[in-house]
Amino acid sequence: MSNYHIKHLEEYFQVYRKSVQNPEGFWEEVAEEHFLWRKRWDRVLSWDFTKPEIKWFEGAKLNITENCIDRHLVTRAKKTAIIFEPNSPDEPAQHITYRELYERVCKLANVLKSKGISKGDRVCIYLPMIPELAVSILACARIGAIHSVVFAGFSSNALSTRINDSECKMVITTDGSYRGSKTIDLKGIVDTALEDCSCVETVLVAKRIHSGINMKEGRDLWLAPLLDAAGTDCEPEIMDAEDPLFILYTSGSTGKPKGMVHTIAGYMVFIAYTFKNIFQYREEDVYWCTADIGWITGHSYIIYGPLCNGATSIMFEGIPSYPDFGRFWEVIAKHKVNQFYTAPTAIRALAKEGVKYLEKHDLSSIKVLGSVGEPINEEAWHWYDDNVGKKKAPIVDTWWQTETGGIMISPIAFATPTKPTYATLPFIGIQPALMDENGNEILGNQVDGRLCIKFPWPSIARTIWGDHQRYKDTYFSAYENKYFTGDGALRDEVGYYRITGRVDDVIIVSGHNLGTAPIEDTINEHPAVAESAIVGIPHDVKGNALYGFVTLKDTGETRNQDNLRKEINELITEQIGPIAKLDKIQFTSALPKTRSGKIMRRILRKIACRDTANLGDTSTLLDPEVVQEIKDNVL
Ligand code: PRX
Repeated sequence: MSNYHIKHLEEYFQVYRKSVQNPEGFWEEVAEEHFLWRKRWDRVLSWDFTKPEIKWFEGAKLNITENCIDRHLVTRAKKTAIIFEPNSPDEPAQHITYRELYERVCKLANVLKSKGISKGDRVCIYLPMIPELAVSILACARIGAIHSVVFAGFSSNALSTRINDSECKMVITTDGSYRGSKTIDLKGIVDTALEDCSCVETVLVAKRIHSGINMKEGRDLWLAPLLDAAGTDCEPEIMDAEDPLFILYTSGSTGKPKGMVHTIAGYMVFIAYTFKNIFQYREEDVYWCTADIGWITGHSYIIYGPLCNGATSIMFEGIPSYPDFGRFWEVIAKHKVNQFYTAPTAIRALAKEGVKYLEKHDLSSIKVLGSVGEPINEEAWHWYDDNVGKKKAPIVDTWWQTETGGIMISPIAFATPTKPTYATLPFIGIQPALMDENGNEILGNQVDGRLCIKFPWPSIARTIWGDHQRYKDTYFSAYENKYFTGDGALRDEVGYYRITGRVDDVIIVSGHNLGTAPIEDTINEHPAVAESAIVGIPHDVKGNALYGFVTLKDTGETRNQDNLRKEINELITEQIGPIAKLDKIQFTSALPKTRSGKIMRRILRKIACRDTANLGDTSTLLDPEVVQEIKDNVL
């Protein structure tokens, strides 16, 4: 039996047992057999959830890019590492071999060094899904710089907050990006952001759309001539196991975004191991994850996981609806994709279009389907199973988080029997617990509670950049000696888990985590707004949509409500990005509050969802009449 490659349910149970009975021994074996180390660790694990402090493979030395690239050059130099599929189907795909990837990464690493970037420096990467994005990430890792990728759909304001938080010295961007039939002026967004960022010394600009942009003298440099002049070898920086690999920002329910810090060795081992097993990747398979690399899914399961396994991974620049809703199916047929990993929101959007687009393309190459980012509803699950997998491809519904680094609860394809809407069993080494309101673990099956994890796994984020106290407060303070996920879950009669959704003020819209507080703060900046509260309402494609309740300042003048709605959404787009726009905005004379002044979101949520049969006791509210007014005017 191989610990590294699980093929049957029996094997899963055996390996799982081993991984929880002797976690150190188990992970040591995986690490030893499957990775390249410059020096062995002194200690496999030390941890203390009360501090919290977690260290894996302490004392070991390595470079993750040697594991992702160099070691494959012996046997896989000519194998395609990355297939770049452009936005437009008329532009040819690019096949980048492991040898070419090596050279491109080394060249860019040399450029970074020549521009003063060294180990520990932070580099912000603000790029669309083009090969330079993958190359930039790996070039940072090559020289020990910490990459902070910011999703290229974020606004200049969101970008500058992130750049300043981790004091990035450099930004890598492009002259613009394609999105379906549109182009986006990414460099313009960077220029605006940098008006507020004094830490950035250099901006490297890749050419993508060949638009005329401003290049700021002494700061902005075109990437291509620098790469042309750079050497094709770059000695990897030898890193400590616990050195940071990257920072990735995620929304919290309050305050500014949290810069989750992932460190090198544990992350590498867990991501590679999960990728191999959950998707059952085999040599020569073509794997496609449709996520953007601006999110954790792209970091772990487009770049690091596949490349650590010597896989062929597709990077898709476009969107599912351009030039029509057949684009995903066309790409699958064109590249003979074997594992396809996407989000429920995309599945729902495509299902809405019916099967006419699907029928035009040969999807017979598909072996495994994946889902990630939010709970998948029964209807979408069956549509995916029936029409994309033709009932032959197992669906791995993978539950995890930016903070967990890798997949935590998921079927292992072909080993774990699937069940619609269930993420099923904990992955190897993962010890979940369901907790009740009083902080006690709920044992047994057919129960539900708040999902915690009892024991560290190798790819857990180690801290929040610059704010360890917030890390402790957010994840380790709700339940003693446990990592709290912020999700609710149930466990069925056989021990399968189903994630029921967030239990905090984070709302997942089209698979994107949005904290309510930062959006409310933005709305409140509008000069006419006194106060606001956001809730999530079910949406048949996006999963959830945002519904805002807004009270206006009494200025004596009457305002056109439709114009105000437009202005509020423009403000949100500007400050956060279009993903946080509100679907509905209801103006109201007041918000329901407790006597201590806390907004009763539970009541607002029920009203917005038109579920008003049981609003609970509203008599204790400060102003109970307002509930009736809000109910009468619900949109
Ligand atoms: O609520 C869970 C939901 O997405 C949250 C994590 O979001 P993020 O950090 O952006 O990472 C998304 C990609 C890993 C979780 O707390 N979530 C993620 N996957 C699933 C899910 N909910 C249900 N089922 C899933 N498979």
